[in-house]
Amino acid sequence: MANSPVPVLTIDGPVASGKGTVARRVAEALGFHLLDSGAIYRAHAFACLRQNTNANDIKALEDTAKVLALEFLGDQVWIDGANATQEIRAEAVGLAASALSAIPDVRAALLQRQRDFAKAPGLVADGRDMGTVVFPDAALKIYLTTTAHERATRRALQVVASLGTTNSPKQLIEKGNSDTILGSLGLESPLRSADAVRAQVEAQIRQRDAQDKSRAIAPLRPAAGAIVIDNANHTPEQTVAGVLALWRLRR
Ligand code: DC
Repeated sequence: MANSPVPVLTIDGPVASGKGTVARRVAEALGFHLLDSGAIYRAHAFACLRQNTNANDIKALEDTAKVLALEFLGDQVWIDGANATQEIRAEAVGLAASALSAIPDVRAALLQRQRDFAKAPGLVADGRDMGTVVFPDAALKIYLTTTAHERATRRALQVVASLGTTNSPKQLIEKGNSDTILGSLGLESPLRSADAVRAQVEAQIRQRDAQDKSRAIAPLRPAAGAIVIDNANHTPEQTVAGVLALWRLRR
C-alpha cells in the first residue's frame, strides 16, 4: 500500500484488551478520526445473520460486504438505516464476525472501506490487523494485550454495562443469575456464581483468540515494529497517557 496521506496510529490486540476505550480516548486527545474496524466486521456478520446467509456461500458473504450500508454516527453504528449499535455487540455476533473475518474475500471486500477512514488531520485505527495489513506504514503501532482471565472479567462487566441497567454492572455480575444478562453474554442458563459467569466468558474469549490468531489471512499478532503493552496493571488513563507520550516521541 502507498504511504497513508495522513498520520495513522494503529492499536491492535485481542478481544476485551481495552483497545477500543484507549483508541477512542487517544483519538479525542489528538483530535483525530477513529476507525473501529471490529464494528465493520460485526456489522457484516450481523447483516449475514439477519438475512440468513449460508456460511459456505462465499460469493453471498462477499456481496453482503460490498453492499453493506454502514454509517458511523458518533458512537452509534447504523446498518441499512437502522440503529444497530447494541445488536452488533452481542457475543454471538462477535463470534460470527470472528469466523467470517477469516474468509479472504470478505476481508478484501472490507479493506478499502477501512482505508477510507484515513483523513486529515489523522486517524487512530483499532482492530486486529491495522498495523500488519490495513495501515502497514502507520507512524506508530501499538499492540495492547493482557491475560484471557483479566480480559474475561472486563468483557463481562462491559457487556452488562451496555444493557443500560440501573444496577451496577459489578452487582449484576456478582449475582450472575439474570436471564437477560446471561442471554446478552450468550451463556447457557442457569449459571449461579460470578466465577461460573467469568469462566464461561473466558472460554469464549479463548475460543475467539484461537480463531483470530490461527487464521491463515491477517492473523492477530503484533505488527513488525509494534510496541507491545500489557495493560494488566494499568488504568485506561495510564495506558492512554503512555500511548500519547509514545506518539509525541514518534512525531
Ligand atoms: O474487536 P471486535 O471484538 O469488535 O472484533 C470482532 C471480530 O472481528 C474479531 O473477533 C475478528 C474480526 N476483526 C478482524 O478480523 N479484523 C479486525 N481488524 C477487526 C476485527
